[in-house]
Amino acid sequence: MEPRKVAQAVYWVGAVDWDRRLFDELIPLPDGTSYNAYLVRGSEKTALVDAVDPTMTEVLLERLRSSGVKTLDYVVANHAEQDHSGAIPRILELHPGATVLCTPKCKAFLMDLLHLPPERIREVADGESVSLGDRTLRFIHFPWVHWPETMLTWVPESKILLSCDLFGSHLATTELFPADGPALLRAAKRYYAEIMMPFRGVIEKNLARLDGLDIAVIAPSHGPMFGQPRLILDAYRNWISSAPRNLAVVAYVSMHDSTRRMAMHLVEALSQRGVRVQLFNLIGADVGKLAMALVDAATVILASPTVLMGAHPKVAEAAYLTNLLKPKARFLAIVGSFGWGGKMAEQLVGMLGSVKAEVLPPVLVKGLPKASDFAALDKLADDIGARHAALPEPGNR
Ligand code: FEO
Repeated sequence: MEPRKVAQAVYWVGAVDWDRRLFDELIPLPDGTSYNAYLVRGSEKTALVDAVDPTMTEVLLERLRSSGVKTLDYVVANHAEQDHSGAIPRILELHPGATVLCTPKCKAFLMDLLHLPPERIREVADGESVSLGDRTLRFIHFPWVHWPETMLTWVPESKILLSCDLFGSHLATTELFPADGPALLRAAKRYYAEIMMPFRGVIEKNLARLDGLDIAVIAPSHGPMFGQPRLILDAYRNWISSAPRNLAVVAYVSMHDSTRRMAMHLVEALSQRGVRVQLFNLIGADVGKLAMALVDAATVILASPTVLMGAHPKVAEAAYLTNLLKPKARFLAIVGSFGWGGKMAEQLVGMLGSVKAEVLPPVLVKGLPKASDFAALDKLADDIGARHAALPEPGNR
């Protein structure tokens, strides 16, 4: 359990969680994750930047022991969420002279979430610097990535930006700087989609604040580091700012095959009109992949049978998640089947109020779809095809 050098005087002392399969009891982690903590060793003082999930405290402590560092002067808490702060109480026990540095909001969180004593915490202002001798920690308040209290830590002499959750990925690997850049970007896009997308407006504004920094390494608190920062900075700008793409997401559940037939017909009809489609059967679907598709999709179509007058709960769940993620989709449609009536379309549209999209006329079918119902789906595909005509293709971003 040795520390690993990531930049001059900066060492990775984190933990790889190969086996974790769920985050927040919600987000699937098919590739595990890591909790990255960094040791910054100045000529006079030493700081630990972020800690690890409480389940991995011993791994962090072992790496710190191996580093030979006897005394920590500072523990920087870029973010209060427990996967990065959970080990701090134990660190403070072992290093009674260490002071926690964080934003004022983060201090309040650390006191609430971990019962850290306030006298061990020092608030730092946006732009404030703390000297470690020949290294400096400069703090950049960066709220809403994805909590309100977050900051980034810049070490100018080492040209490394310790960016906490921002630019992270849930990827367990022994490679700090993976050779497979496209695979890393896919993991980072999934992470962006699941965690950062709802906050893309505020992230976009704050990204401009990094423009003046001569960054050689971006080191987030999950997943690998970026030795070519432009890769992830450009990717984020694309995901945040670019127009939605010529992509329709069709997410469906079917109980007695009516809705499945409608979904399949729509996939074909849209495809014939030049619209790229990603289809998700919500029974067993990977919501991470659904979130990734929502980064690009111009149209979201939810297809549901009717259960006791409303949408199928799995479709309602997808609508709820989509609403939380606030994708930049421009068009929304509800299709599905019913036996004796219901308010499924109104219910689902009502759940999607945060998605600022044009709602297209629903196609609701009594029982198995007939020829006239498939014609209505063709008309919906015509409408979507016309609206997508000028949109850029999804590409490989
Ligand atoms: Fe990785 Fe928001 O904690």
